[in-house]
Amino acid sequence: MQTRKFVIDPGSAFVTLYGDALIYREPNVAVVRRGRMTEVLAYGEEAANMRTLPDHSVLSRPVQGGIVKQPDVLGLVLKKIFEKYIPQNLFKAVELYVPVPAGLSIVERENLEKAVASAGYRDVTLIETPLCFLPRFDGGDTMVAVFGAGVTDVGVVNSEGIVTASTVDIGGDALDEKIKGVLLQNRNFKIDSAAAERLKKAIGSLYTVDTSAVSVIGQDILDLRSKSIEISATQIAPAIHYCYSRILDILETTLASLPRGKQEEVRSNGLYIAGGGAGMNGLGDYLQRGLRIPVTIDPDYETAMVKYLAKLISSDKFAQLLRAVGK
Ligand SMILES: Nc1ncnc2c1ncn2[C@@H]1O[C@H](COP(=O)(O)OP(=O)(O)OP(=O)(O)O)[C@@H](O)[C@H]1O
Ligand SMILES: [Mg+2]
Repeated sequence: MQTRKFVIDPGSAFVTLYGDALIYREPNVAVVRRGRMTEVLAYGEEAANMRTLPDHSVLSRPVQGGIVKQPDVLGLVLKKIFEKYIPQNLFKAVELYVPVPAGLSIVERENLEKAVASAGYRDVTLIETPLCFLPRFDGGDTMVAVFGAGVTDVGVVNSEGIVTASTVDIGGDALDEKIKGVLLQNRNFKIDSAAAERLKKAIGSLYTVDTSAVSVIGQDILDLRSKSIEISATQIAPAIHYCYSRILDILETTLASLPRGKQEEVRSNGLYIAGGGAGMNGLGDYLQRGLRIPVTIDPDYETAMVKYLAKLISSDKFAQLLRAVGK
């Protein structure tokens, strides 16, 4: 029987489905009603944009910090996505490939695998995040960093596989929380996570002289009034530096832990970055200055990983490597 291959990435912020091209990418949230059976009333953009939730329902984020927290919800959401976007063909089997943070424990991997399989297709292969990018490189040792919402994955890869890899629990969500924290502390102003994320994307910067500013709605915690205040890039800069400097530390340690020959090779091949957090203003220059190696940000940083993983699973060149990871 012929097979059709799909990449499914149930991330902490987005679910992405990729076949020969991008098929689906929407927020990984669901409106859930729990009773005798768990029901998913809405998912993706529709769920994220719902202003009032139906009675007895809650908004759920099934994956947090790179880990499946609600496997039943994730399974139901994926089932709906597969039913809608994977056309039925009785004569073709479906193989699913799922990128996973390199640092997940065996139990966390099994939970992810089970949740994906519960959506209907049982042929599921997990691929560690740094490996997904192999088709992007020519084989030599290259450092990769993927900045997600829940986690950041750091690794060194070459054509034989992973040289070293680790997962840090700092991503876009932690950064949003940090932004909320600095505004509370320095401006006595309380904002929600969505507002923090908007600020981050609008004026977040790793350049020290960034004068942009925007207004944000929140609550003054001194008089408890809702109001809109102006926030400048410099006011949220400490939060941004805190998070990205911790990742820079991990990258430095990873580089330093390599044998000298490999270190030289990584220094000349450089660091490649992707994931939503790669969109931070000034990140390329910041990492280049810190590591003193060439840094490349993928122009399609949000979807680069699934795109390269789709290449990897369809190319004969990587068949042996896929067999080694369990296919
Ligand atoms: N321009 C930007 N600057 C900084 N962060 C950004 C930008 N655009 C998106 N992000 C952040 O990127 C994150 C989403 O990235 P991505 O889709 O790679 O995460 P994910 O795969 O769902 O999560 P994970 O891999 O951690 O489970 C969000 O936290 C979002 O706020
Ligand atoms: Mg991700």
